Amino acid sequence: MRRKIVAGNWKMNLVREQAVLLAKEISNERKIDGVELMIFPPFVFVDPITQQIGTDLKVGVQDIYFETSGAFTGEISIAQAKSVGAGIALIGHSERRELFNETNTILKKKVDAALSGQIDFIFCCGEPLNIRKTGREYDFVKIQLEESLFHLSEEEIKKVIIAYEPIWAIGTGETASTEQAEEMHAAIRSWLMERYSEQTAEIIPILYGGSCKPDNAKELFACKNVDGGLIGGASLKTSDFIAIANSF
Ligand code: PGA
Repeated sequence: MRRKIVAGNWKMNLVREQAVLLAKEISNERKIDGVELMIFPPFVFVDPITQQIGTDLKVGVQDIYFETSGAFTGEISIAQAKSVGAGIALIGHSERRELFNETNTILKKKVDAALSGQIDFIFCCGEPLNIRKTGREYDFVKIQLEESLFHLSEEEIKKVIIAYEPIWAIGTGETASTEQAEEMHAAIRSWLMERYSEQTAEIIPILYGGSCKPDNAKELFACKNVDGGLIGGASLKTSDFIAIANSF
């Protein structure tokens, strides 16, 4: 049985009081049978949040840098993230890839740094609209995985959570259909099987992200290979986020 995960990516939203309040509300609701809830607030709020809610809810950072310390203005190391209570990181969110030019090569370094720095991570992948329109989405996503993730050993890959987030569905209100989501998730699982083993492919959670809302989560989470969601906009409202988590 695979883990079921609902993770909220708050992106660059909220100020301190709002962030702490939202985290507390979610934390109070957290006991949803069998579903792991995670939140990814802006880095500056990780400390006040973990101080207030303890370790019950998994709190993560939206990005990490691959170097351990030094002259990297504006970046956050894994040790720094862990020192304020972050237990997990997002790696390769499409906004980092598109707006901040993070390439598969850079993301490979982040993956390696996360493993050696012992922080869990969700590795995000997904194709832009022009790639989907020209029917090249499978090749595109496969290359993202091959170039940043598939160098890992079988023991290492077992620690990874993957999120498939088609870029054309992020923050656009346009969701992938259940067929589109399931087909890509099944493809990702089959590549994991080819590269590693059936047993390993079966245990790796693959989350869907992209305009996942209370009214479409049930259908998406019912797909055989969809193990939860990485939620942007709808994670900023406790009732919506909890409703999504209750959709399993
Ligand atoms: P969205 O964002 O739910 O607002 O589409 C998802 C994400 O970027 O993780």
